[in-house]
Amino acid sequence: MTIIVTGGAGFIGSNFIFYILKKYPDYRIVCLDKLTYAGNMSTLAPIMENPKFRFVKVDICDREAVYKLFEEEHPDIVVNFAAESHVDRSIENPGVFLETNIMGTAIMMDACRKYGIIRYHQVSTDEVYGDLPLDRPDLFFTEETPIHTSSPYSSSKAAADLLALSYHRTYDLSVTISRCSNNYGPYHFPEKLIPLMIANALNDKQLPVYGEGINVRDWLYVEDHCKAIDLIIHKGRVGEVYNIGGHNEMRNIDIVEMICDALGKPYSLITYVTDRKGHDMRYAIDPTKIHNELGWLPETKFADGINKTIQWYLDNREWWETIISGEYKNYYEKMYGNR
Ligand code: NAD
Ligand code: DAU
Repeated sequence: MTIIVTGGAGFIGSNFIFYILKKYPDYRIVCLDKLTYAGNMSTLAPIMENPKFRFVKVDICDREAVYKLFEEEHPDIVVNFAAESHVDRSIENPGVFLETNIMGTAIMMDACRKYGIIRYHQVSTDEVYGDLPLDRPDLFFTEETPIHTSSPYSSSKAAADLLALSYHRTYDLSVTISRCSNNYGPYHFPEKLIPLMIANALNDKQLPVYGEGINVRDWLYVEDHCKAIDLIIHKGRVGEVYNIGGHNEMRNIDIVEMICDALGKPYSLITYVTDRKGHDMRYAIDPTKIHNELGWLPETKFADGINKTIQWYLDNREWWETIISGEYKNYYEKMYGNR
């Protein structure tokens, strides 16, 4: 079995590659990644010599290079993680989100049609459903919830989902889609809430909380997401969407305070800054379908997962310090300098 994993030098894609290589030692994994600011080769360094693994630096929007790779590798399965993934960046510069997230998805699926595959899996997000009100804790996103996006990022992901479903209906491409809630864990790029707060707290820097800090996200340990995708690509029904989430809703401010407590840092580091434009209030996934059909349930409790994650950032300081000292620093100044 050969799996092409796009975006495997990023957060979830790299965790997925590690998980699959360990679980299926006879599978071959080909990681296709453009290495944008979010792609990090040091993450993949430990597996670069593994004969079952190949890395190729390719842009999913480069049709010729993608087709060439399919000709060389004859993949059985394609899992498309590659995306511009940060909402704040999409508000600053939507164009690249449309290119990668929509055109790139179309090109990957064109390659799958041209060369033939068993399964194309599109890694999507709960953000395609928009948000839920804080005062209706009884409401959850199901697979039937209408698409109702808020940001250029979520709009581009929703467009990719619709394209994927259309390739299934029109061309009979063997497609599945997963829509997951917020992930956390090792190798999370330090522009996202949890790794940013851990890194800043460790450096005694301000902890920039958007608005009042009362927005709610439904957090899932990254390995549980990888396990869900593994089940979907092997056992999921073609043409179906599966929501992934573990009923673990937390307010941003509570997470930031929890990180301060774990690291012994004062709450005085917390700084309330201008809110994100169009900021979604609450995400909450109903994972009944994937539980009933595929038996998936999250295994890592938040209390354990956040401790493991904090410990990982303590043990792997060099990984995130290298990022912060590089291009990320300019971005940080631009995003937070005036707040
Ligand atoms: P990430 O930003 O950490 O990694 C993205 C990876 O894609 C990077 O390695 C980057 O170099 C690569 N990439 C970007 N543009 C590319 C292109 N044009 N061609 C090839 N490679 C390209 O993202 P992540 O957080 O790991 O998210 C992975 C996927 O999961 C995304 O599709 C995202 O929408 C989805 N998702 C993320 C979360 C989350 O909480 N992080 C939750 C649900 C769904
Ligand atoms: O729900 C899934 C989505 O989760 C994925 O599709 C996205 O790729 C991923 O980036 C994530 O999106 P969010 O916007 O929810 O994640 P982020 O870490 O950027 O922000 C989480 C919450 O924390 C959000 O309410 C904004 C807030 N926040 C974020 C940052 C970076 C802050 O208060 N301060 C910050 O500095």
